[in-house]
Amino acid sequence: MDSLTLSGSIFFIIISLLSHSTHSLCTTTPLIFNFGDSNSDTGGLVAGLGYSVTSPYGRTFFSRSTGRLSDGRLLIDFLCQSVKSSFLPAYLESLGSTFSNGANFAVVGSSTLPKFVPFALNVQVMQFLHFKSRSSDLIASGSKAMINDDGFKRALYMIDIGQNDLSDAFAKKYSYANVIKRIPLVLAEIKNAIKSIHDNGGRKFWVHNTGPLGCLPQKLWFVQPSSRALDPHGCISTYNSAAKLFNEGLRHLCTKLRSELKDSTIVYVDIYTIKYDLIANASKYGFANPLMACCGFGGPPFNYNINVTCGHGGAQACNQGSQFVNWDGIHFTEAANSIMASKILSQQYSTPRVPFDFFCH
Ligand SMILES: *[C@@H]1O[C@H](CO)[C@@H](O)[C@H](O)[C@H]1NC(C)=O
Ligand SMILES: *[C@@H]1O[C@H](CO)[C@@H](O)[C@H](O)[C@H]1NC(C)=O
Repeated sequence: MDSLTLSGSIFFIIISLLSHSTHSLCTTTPLIFNFGDSNSDTGGLVAGLGYSVTSPYGRTFFSRSTGRLSDGRLLIDFLCQSVKSSFLPAYLESLGSTFSNGANFAVVGSSTLPKFVPFALNVQVMQFLHFKSRSSDLIASGSKAMINDDGFKRALYMIDIGQNDLSDAFAKKYSYANVIKRIPLVLAEIKNAIKSIHDNGGRKFWVHNTGPLGCLPQKLWFVQPSSRALDPHGCISTYNSAAKLFNEGLRHLCTKLRSELKDSTIVYVDIYTIKYDLIANASKYGFANPLMACCGFGGPPFNYNINVTCGHGGAQACNQGSQFVNWDGIHFTEAANSIMASKILSQQYSTPRVPFDFFCH
């Protein structure tokens, strides 16, 4: 690391500390409901399907596997911490969960389409509606600990989905034109989800766009793109173009919903720009090779092999996850997630620019 990079990193750390310190002033108990895929699954897959996620997942922060697909905390964990909330329990985790701060419906692998299969976005929303009606029933029969209608109204509803819809379409070898054709259908599902939550009292929404799919080591390994298929930072151009088109549509959808649902706040967060900056300017953040997984098999350039994935026999993890953006070929490291959270908390990537804790005042 040269001195310029080092001073850049120190500057960044100071900015991060400043922005963190201004984000803990909730006056009401923060309540969060989250919908999504592996980017925000805090244990849903493991609880829901009995699937096991083993060491070295979780090694950096939890010192055990929690079902999160990272070496430590996810973006959503850092966001919960910023409002002094406990980590969000997976909705499907029946033992030990009180759901007093909300619930996380996100499950690894989820997409918006097809609907009505575990755990598509519309299924996650149906689970939420069940959760809400059970809470009302229990309150009616005397329970004091459940979230009431006022709680559901002031809660934050977070959505982070779409990556698997794009990824699945590319994996099925759809032409680029056919991948793009699916985008409006995916956006329609996100719209349905927000409207359905709104119909049921939700008023505060936090919508993440999707990251640069073409920069994931797993995709680079599968596609083995020729150099002319790569963008200036070594990512697959078509995959990133599709992600950007999806994001344009999502931004537009949020604008439209803001004018339709005037009693609501709908915040659109540009995750793509944050992640792409981490990759393009990796050294500035102290990361070495942003297109290589820390945990996997095969070594450079991607350290990924479908037959020997992280957590399975033969895979190896790097010594210092903090030098990697990517953990397992698909998901980000705790170090990268932490920087992402600081950037989100800066409000710079949000439309409209409201502090993350706007919902707990
Ligand atoms: C890399 O960092 C520079 C300086 O902060 C910034 O202007 C540029 O947009 C970044 N590149 C990407 C691709 O985000
Ligand atoms: C993965 O395993 C399959 C089935 O054993 C084999 O056909 C394939 O060549 C392997 N791929 C790699 C990259 O090792």
